Amino acid sequence: MRSLLFVPADDAKKLDKAMASGADAVIVDLEDSIPAQGKADARMRAAAFIKDAVEAAHRPRLLVRINGFTTGLADADLDAVVPARPDAIMLPKAEGGADIIRADAKLSAREAVAGLPDGHIKIVAIATETATALFLAGTYSGASARLEGLTWGAEDLSAELGAQANRADGRFLDPYRLARALCLAGAAAARVQAIDTVAVDFRNAAALRRETEEARRDGFTGKMAIHPAQVPVINEVFTPSAAAIASARAVVAAFEANPGKGTVGIDGVMYDRPHLERARQLLARAAAAGLTS
Ligand code: COA
Ligand code: MG
Repeated sequence: MRSLLFVPADDAKKLDKAMASGADAVIVDLEDSIPAQGKADARMRAAAFIKDAVEAAHRPRLLVRINGFTTGLADADLDAVVPARPDAIMLPKAEGGADIIRADAKLSAREAVAGLPDGHIKIVAIATETATALFLAGTYSGASARLEGLTWGAEDLSAELGAQANRADGRFLDPYRLARALCLAGAAAARVQAIDTVAVDFRNAAALRRETEEARRDGFTGKMAIHPAQVPVINEVFTPSAAAIASARAVVAAFEANPGKGTVGIDGVMYDRPHLERARQLLARAAAAGLTS
């Protein structure tokens, strides 16, 4: 998933637009974009939308962001949306692997009741929204085969920390750069996708591009969006270029031509095992984007 577009569950027009936005995934939101009095209605709308949308022939992945475990709303959210068969749920305010095990159990029970295959619904966790969560970012490994990605957030964390701001001159400040790095390392340790947080300043295309390029550089493989205009930029940045694919192929070919060798030289540059691993990851992303077979 290169781009994951958020849509408030109570906005039918935006839900339709999101389906046609080109995003790799649509995240139907029951959490922060829905006010307390609208939660019950929003979860019914989310279920009705997902039930239809999963039947579409060419469609994005369909996620539902439920409310966090401490709100008392998560069980009713899952009761409503699991029978509609979303591809994944997004768990906000996750606090480590223990919360993923808990979400897994809740999903398993509901999948059984709804007659869905056990493990069908995957989990993407927002791993840095509380202070406690930062200290648990390394605990996701092995929690559940459902876990497919970790992402991070700066807004809830800044409230939790009592901060006055999370950015200065458009750049994240240190506590949020730490959260971003912990998300990246936690995802790599758990061998799941690392997904960058949203750019809230949705009219600023230059800032979005810079942030997305920095995310790709550091190892993220996707980024969340809040507006359809952000989707093409994110998709472009996370789609491997023809040149990058060619050089990854050259690295793989050089190792294949020298079986048993730990290092190879190509055009006067040394490549070793980490380069081979990176080349394979890039080719896997290119294949996922439909660029290679
Ligand atoms: N998904 C799908 N369509 C969206 C969209 C989204 N996230 N955000 C905007 N659009 C649509 C609008 O409905 C509008 O459609 P129209 O041209 O047919 O009228 C078009 O894109 C242009 O929207 P624009 O006027 O630029 O923005 P807006 O003022 O309508 O909406 C937001 C701004 C921030 C309220 C809106 O982008 C939004 O709701 N984003 C998601 C918020 C969210 O889910 N937050 C929780 C996660 S942080
Ligand atoms: Mg939030």
